[in-house]
Amino acid sequence: MRHRVLFLIVAFLAPAIAGTAVADDRAATTVAVIGTGDMGDSLGPRLAGLGFRVVYGSRDPGSEHVAQLVAATGAKASAATSREAAAAADIVILAVPWPAMETVARNLGNLDGKIVIDISMPFAQGDDGYPEHLLPTSSAQMIQQWNPGARVVKTFATMGSQIIDDPGEAGGIVSIPVASDDKAAKEAVARIIADLQLDPVDFGPLRMARQIENLQLIYMIPLVQNRPENWEFYFRRSTHYGCYWADGYMSDVASPPFDAETLAAFPDDRAQPPACE
Ligand SMILES: NC(=O)c1ccc[n+]([C@@H]2O[C@H](COP(=O)([O-])OP(=O)(O)OC[C@H]3O[C@@H](n4cnc5c(N)ncnc54)[C@H](OP(=O)(O)O)[C@@H]3O)[C@@H](O)[C@H]2O)c1
Repeated sequence: MRHRVLFLIVAFLAPAIAGTAVADDRAATTVAVIGTGDMGDSLGPRLAGLGFRVVYGSRDPGSEHVAQLVAATGAKASAATSREAAAAADIVILAVPWPAMETVARNLGNLDGKIVIDISMPFAQGDDGYPEHLLPTSSAQMIQQWNPGARVVKTFATMGSQIIDDPGEAGGIVSIPVASDDKAAKEAVARIIADLQLDPVDFGPLRMARQIENLQLIYMIPLVQNRPENWEFYFRRSTHYGCYWADGYMSDVASPPFDAETLAAFPDDRAQPPACE
């Protein structure tokens, strides 16, 4: 929570989602933010600003730090143990370090039907100083494996917490990839991202979470190079594939293997691609 800005929020939620208690009414939707560190203390207040009821899950919910965070989040915010917070929530955000993830994610109780958002970065620093992925798959797929009934969504991994606090901090729109095997969950999360003034981008099924994590790895390169500046992702539109499709490229694909047409979009002034030649 390095910078905080208040936004005028248009509060609306995805249509009711089968299998969960996520409602049209955000005031009736509880988000558990598990972990009260840098990301937790950015996401919690912003989600409360969208109208969600926020409950922090902490190892020490009675601490002064957590009390201050709850007070800063708003009158409807609260704190509990991580297990209690998850039990009370429709949406669970896992904002803990990867090394703690297995213990945390395996001990939240029954997550069946809940949207579980994985923002973690399962990396270690290699001998050459550059980050390396620790898993053959992805953190999101591991979390799904540990909680088969959860509706796991991978997102929010590719930017710093200051972008949550202030989406304009980088001087322009920031694109946020989203991946999930649960289309409705992905759409609900994309709407939240768009309402946070960020640009959700459909990255397909959960197995693509590894590619999101690899983008985060790219994001960390300026950090390990001791550069004073970081970079943020912004996906420009290109005419390239549209023109390929017009020529029949991939015409044997039965249906679009992506949900981009229905995913919420953050309105921006990106130019429409030029016409195909
Ligand atoms: N910081 C960023 O800019 C950023 C950006 C993208 C993604 N991420 C990812 O977001 C996640 C959280 O990052 P962060 O920067 O917020 O980390 P952080 O500042 O270290 O905070 C993580 C929080 O998780 C809880 N926690 C720490 N160790 C734990 C353990 N052993 N068992 C259970 N809970 C533990 C703590 O909350 P309590 O003391 O309340 O339990 C702690 O404050 C990480 O997976 C990170 O890779 C971070």
